[in-house]
This record gives sequence, C-alpha cells and structure tokens, in this order.
Amino acid sequence: MTLARKLMLAAAAAGTIFAVGCQKEAAQSASSAAVDAPGQGIYFQQCAICHGRAGKGDTMIAANYPWANLADTKYGHGSTREEIIRNITDGVPQTPMRGFKGALSDEEIGQIADYIIAMGKQGS
Ligand code: HEC
Repeated sequence: MTLARKLMLAAAAAGTIFAVGCQKEAAQSASSAAVDAPGQGIYFQQCAICHGRAGKGDTMIAANYPWANLADTKYGHGSTREEIIRNITDGVPQTPMRGFKGALSDEEIGQIADYIIAMGKQGS
C-alpha cells in the first residue's frame, strides 16, 4: 500500500468517527428538549432561567407565580399567538416577567412564541 493510500484510509476512518460523534450529539440534544424549533436557542438563553428548560416555571424566581408554567395549554395573560407575543414584548406588570422589546427582534419573539405554543401542546 502506498503512503498516499494509507493516508486516504486514515482520513476516511477519521471521517466516520466524526460523523458518528455528531449523530450521537444530535440525538442527545433532541432528547433533552421538549420540541425542536428555531426559537428554542433563544428560549434557553433568555427565558429558561425563570421558566426552566422544560418550561414548567419550577425555578427559584418563578415558582410562586401562577402563570410561569409555559409547558401546558393554560395561560393567565392570553393564549393566542398575538397575546403571547404581546406578553413577551411588553412583559407582565407586577411580576418578574419583563418586556423583551428592544432586546429581541420581532422575528425572534415570534419564533419563541411558536416554540412556547408547541411546548404547551406537547406538555398537556
Ligand atoms: C426574571 C424571570 C423571567 C424571565 C427571564 C422570563 N420570564 Fe416570562 N414570566 C415570568 C413569571 C414569574 C411569569 C408569571 C407571571 C404571572 O404568574 O402572572 C411569566 C409569564 C410569562 C408569560 C405569560 C404566561 C401566561 O400564562 O399568560 C409568557 C408568555 C412568558 N412569561 C414568556 C417568557 C419568554 C418567552 C421569556 C424569554 C424571552 C420569558 N418569559 C422570560 C418570569 C420570567
């Protein structure tokens, strides 16, 4: 076997290992998430600290608030996509839920709203 052929085989083997590794990672991240949607990454970054990664609202900050659970289909401040978008944009007065106007774009807020709606449907 020539050196070039050996190198090619080694590269092919490394590629296979790499591909298997990626598949495993993808499967893991899918299983730790309720649903897969473009809004998920922003949700994890901006919202999960209070609402929890699974959306149940079972965190130190939000646990005592009746409507912090986003993983069900019950809403206290409006359940339509428009109302959810409004609540994310303007916040919920008298609660730690502040508005994200300016911090997130309209497109991002729309994506998170879709994510929350999907999460709720999957929850209960
Ligand atoms: C600092 C903590 C905190 C952060 C961060 C936060 N929330 Fe909230 N949010 C709350 C609390 C607490 C409530 C519940 C208020 C209540 O019970 O009336 C709430 C309520 C809501 C509601 C209304 C639910 C209903 O039943 O009508 C929505 C929708 C919501 N949050 C979405 C989000 C999204 C999306 C993000 C991230 C962009 C986010 N929240 C970030 C604390 C937070």
